[in-house]
Amino acid sequence: MAILVTGGTGYIGSHTVVELQNNGYDVVVLDNLSNSSVKSLDRVKAITGKDVKFYEGDIRDRKILEKIFDNEKIDSCIHFAGLKAVGESVEKPWEYYDNNITGTLTLVDEMRKHGVKNIIFSSSATVYGDPAQIPITEECPKGQCTNPYGWTKSMLEQILSDMQKADNEWNVVLLRYFNPIGAHQSGTMGENPNGIPNNLMPYITQVAVGKREELGVFGNDYDTPDGTGVRDYIHVVDLADGHVKALKKIEENAGLCIYNLGTGTGYSVLDIVKNFEEANNLKIPYSIKPRRAGDIATCYADPSKAKKELGWEAKYGIKEMCADSWRWQKNNPNGYED
Ligand code: NAD
Ligand code: UFG
Repeated sequence: MAILVTGGTGYIGSHTVVELQNNGYDVVVLDNLSNSSVKSLDRVKAITGKDVKFYEGDIRDRKILEKIFDNEKIDSCIHFAGLKAVGESVEKPWEYYDNNITGTLTLVDEMRKHGVKNIIFSSSATVYGDPAQIPITEECPKGQCTNPYGWTKSMLEQILSDMQKADNEWNVVLLRYFNPIGAHQSGTMGENPNGIPNNLMPYITQVAVGKREELGVFGNDYDTPDGTGVRDYIHVVDLADGHVKALKKIEENAGLCIYNLGTGTGYSVLDIVKNFEEANNLKIPYSIKPRRAGDIATCYADPSKAKKELGWEAKYGIKEMCADSWRWQKNNPNGYED
């Protein structure tokens, strides 16, 4: 039996394919390459020594889904495929709702038609909105999202939960990621954003490699120890391992499960700059800019439920995250296009 990984050429997907193959799973990837390069799968193969079966196509395309479910023995789906740029989602809400919601509805409809009722869904800490409590447990109420991207995650959690309640043959694991950073330790795989990075770590690595002049720190007047935003950064390889553990949970017919995947430790923007500089012996010039619309002050997880129920916890610390992010960027200044 094989695992269908939608979005498997992307940042988190490709790292998860490595961990799945290293744990003996056969993997089939479906991706439309709208935000990724198929070359990431060559890098996967160089690490694991195993081929990845790849279908280029869209999760909204029933024909390609039928072909996959007819031709491959799919047992479960890890569903990463989606658009994820917060700012872009405000400009193009229809495109985000269509890609993420229509896409997921089409995918799960074809899954059930083919008797595949196991799904792990990439959700996000963004569903908590401005969180009611810190650290954030899974019981913390979902909040008001500040952008269409966040709403797609919140709505899809609801849709998948309702489906599981109506048909308990479904196993649905909703994984709420905190802030994934870092890269594979080999330095051959990592995050490869198009254009100007929206997220902190890719921006820092592009400053370090000389592509950008300085980092803009979005606000230093938050109610945090140094005034800059605090987040729960998690190494992408730890996150990938969380998916392997979630698959084991599905194999126990767990029904509906929700887990935070974070480390439980919050770092400010300036903490990240300092740790990056120390880990890599570099200087990152920065200046303070106004707050970014929609940002919150503090967001970090209570990850104890995943530890208790999945036997999962993050292994890598902030220095390793910074060193691995930099190794990837330094060795691949143009991402997968070199
Ligand atoms: P990514 O953009 O690198 O990967 C997503 C992949 O999905 C890309 O390869 C893209 O080409 C593909 N894709 C998008 N729409 C598709 C479609 N309609 N059909 C087929 N393929 C499609 O992003 P990532 O950082 O690896 O994120 C993976 C998932 O995790 C996304 O659902 C994202 O929303 C979620 N997530 C990411 C973060 C983060 O900070 N990176 C945080 C929380 C949740
Ligand atoms: N920041 C800067 N300068 C930058 C980029 C970011 O100061 O150039 C700051 C932000 O203001 C924030 C922190 O760095 O305080 C982290 O920002 P990111 O953009 O890296 O991450 P966010 O926490 O805003 O959001 C990310 C994903 C969302 C996801 C969320 C929770 O982009 O999709 O984590 O998982 F929902």
